[in-house]
Amino acid sequence: MATRVATQQKTDVQGQLDGKTAVITGAGRGIGKAIATAFARAGACSIFVVRDRELGEALAEEQRTQGYTADCGVADVTDASQISMLVLDLMQRHPVIDVLVNNAGIFLDADRHMRPSESDPLIMEETWNTNVLGVVRMCSAFIPHMPKGGRIINVSSTMGQLAGEPQARGPAYSTSKAALNMYTQMLAADLSDRNIMVDSFHPGWVKTDMGGPRATVEPEDAAKTALFLAARPHSTETGLFWKGTTPTEW
Ligand SMILES: NC(=O)c1ccc[n+]([C@@H]2O[C@H](COP(=O)([O-])OP(=O)(O)OC[C@H]3O[C@@H](n4cnc5c(N)ncnc54)[C@H](OP(=O)(O)O)[C@@H]3O)[C@@H](O)[C@H]2O)c1
Repeated sequence: MATRVATQQKTDVQGQLDGKTAVITGAGRGIGKAIATAFARAGACSIFVVRDRELGEALAEEQRTQGYTADCGVADVTDASQISMLVLDLMQRHPVIDVLVNNAGIFLDADRHMRPSESDPLIMEETWNTNVLGVVRMCSAFIPHMPKGGRIINVSSTMGQLAGEPQARGPAYSTSKAALNMYTQMLAADLSDRNIMVDSFHPGWVKTDMGGPRATVEPEDAAKTALFLAARPHSTETGLFWKGTTPTEW
């Protein structure tokens, strides 16, 4: 039965990313791992970018033993020199990167309990350094190696949504995702002449270390939106914030 389910899953997504090379940050666990795995199953060469090389190598090897194509790279997204080294390392084996998924992110415990009126600048700085500047560093480093028709997918959150009810908690995380959304829009406008589509999406409340055990969405289901955005045909409908396969309000 397990084999039949695995075969069925393989058939559903098979070939959607054939011939594509995808870089996914924060791919060692949680949503990033699920996205990198889903992309490999869809035919991409999936590059698991992690902070722990041993973990990245084990994850890529696990994919390869199952017949998929995968590689790994190492970088802390807060460190520009590590990202430069990552590019140099990957370019030797993958001169073109078709898809970049900026998934690595943090939501610090101190932030979860922090009131906006009592925001700690150090917590804000640490969070922004990963969730916003980490994405900026990755984009600036990889965009020169992306072809026409490339895709950039930013994992954001409705906590950064300006529409709707603001919450009186998590100011560092919420503002970081709001900034990420604006960066997504601006990058999409900038890269439209190269047909590079740039989108952000909300993955739902996902059962990961960040989301916790009470969350309602499995990482594998959250990864489906990333796959949809990576595999959809070229469209002028880009620079959008998605929930599932539907654009939503910023
Ligand atoms: N879970 C949810 O309910 C939810 C909801 C909305 C949005 N999101 C977003 O989804 C993304 C993934 O979240 P998740 O739930 O999978 O979180 P997670 O389980 O806590 O995993 C976070 C990932 O980010 C990596 N990471 C953190 N800081 C990094 C850095 N400086 N450099 C490189 N990698 C770093 C971690 O790597 P290490 O293993 O090395 O620490 C880990 O792989 C985040 O952007 C998050 O904001 C999550």
